[in-house]
Amino acid sequence: MSELPEGERVIVEVEGESILVLNHEGKIYAISNICTHEDAEMASGIVIGDTITCPVHLSRFRLDSGEVLNPPATRPLKTYKVVIREQEVFVEV
Ligand code: FES
Repeated sequence: MSELPEGERVIVEVEGESILVLNHEGKIYAISNICTHEDAEMASGIVIGDTITCPVHLSRFRLDSGEVLNPPATRPLKTYKVVIREQEVFVEV
């Protein structure tokens, strides 16, 4: 994936997994695009601070660890390691 400007987000499909990659305040995060509660797309979620809020039932998750911060979701989002090499963004699956 080429460079990702601040504030942008993209969905990539890797080995059957839908991954949301986003640049929030200059830091690149890669998390599962699918909420662990009822399969909502996190790409439509609201990012505030270091969290993203599911657009359907409003569970919040930490961007860096995927930790769930409030119900109804109870399981963390999967997170992926991001490597930036020569302005290219790589996600390790
Ligand atoms: S689908 Fe995300 S909290 Fe319900």
